[in-house]
Amino acid sequence: MTDTPEDVHHRLWHVLTPGIPREQSQELYRTWAPLYEQDMKTSQYNGPRQVAQTLVKALGSRSDAHILDVAAGTGFVGEELQKLGFSNLDALDASQEMLDIAQTKHVYNNFILDFLGTNRLNIEDDTYDATTCCGAFCEGHVKCDCLEELIRVVKPGGFVCVGIRKFFLETVEEYHKLEPLMADLQRRGLWEPVSRHVTQDYCEGYDGVVFLFKVK
Ligand SMILES: C[S@@+](CC[C@H](N)C(=O)[O-])C[C@H]1O[C@@H](n2cnc3c(N)ncnc32)[C@H](O)[C@@H]1O
Repeated sequence: MTDTPEDVHHRLWHVLTPGIPREQSQELYRTWAPLYEQDMKTSQYNGPRQVAQTLVKALGSRSDAHILDVAAGTGFVGEELQKLGFSNLDALDASQEMLDIAQTKHVYNNFILDFLGTNRLNIEDDTYDATTCCGAFCEGHVKCDCLEELIRVVKPGGFVCVGIRKFFLETVEEYHKLEPLMADLQRRGLWEPVSRHVTQDYCEGYDGVVFLFKVK
């Protein structure tokens, strides 16, 4: 039976349930994984390309840059980075089923099954030249307090690039504190802002915001 646009829309929004427990979210991704890419392509999901382009502009000719794609899912961001000539890529995600699909693409070298939060990831300080995080700042997904971990694993002078649907900054209660927290991290000398671009057609025709920070 063919999916209707309503089926796709339901799957896309089901994972965005406010306050959804971590186990339930992981269960949804477990069952959604085989359909995720098809659904996101139907939804004109341009966020991964926009994040990859923003980061690559900052990295310039450093195509050997070691990049950790956090909440990598099935690997859309990795594919975009690879198209732009970057192949020293690792993937981290909380869902084994999403990572299994990413693995079939041969764009990442290492796969890390872990949960991004306030917990310390099993990664040394200053390991990467950049971290990307696209499509994880969503209702019921990562919390703002994970930003310090995205910074900790990046070398001084490296970059953190985060993509988010613009309206989530207003509609998701957790993300009301995202930009104040970003400013606080700047005040504390952990990073400095490089750019904040509002992008068109980030996903489902909605605008996105792509943040780029330089780690100090
Ligand atoms: C909407 S998908 C985005 C995947 C990919 N970055 C993309 O843009 O297509 C969200 C991903 O975030 C992962 N995720 C959600 N919360 C997470 C967390 N706290 N730590 C690690 N991964 C998480 C999910 O397992 C899922 O693969």
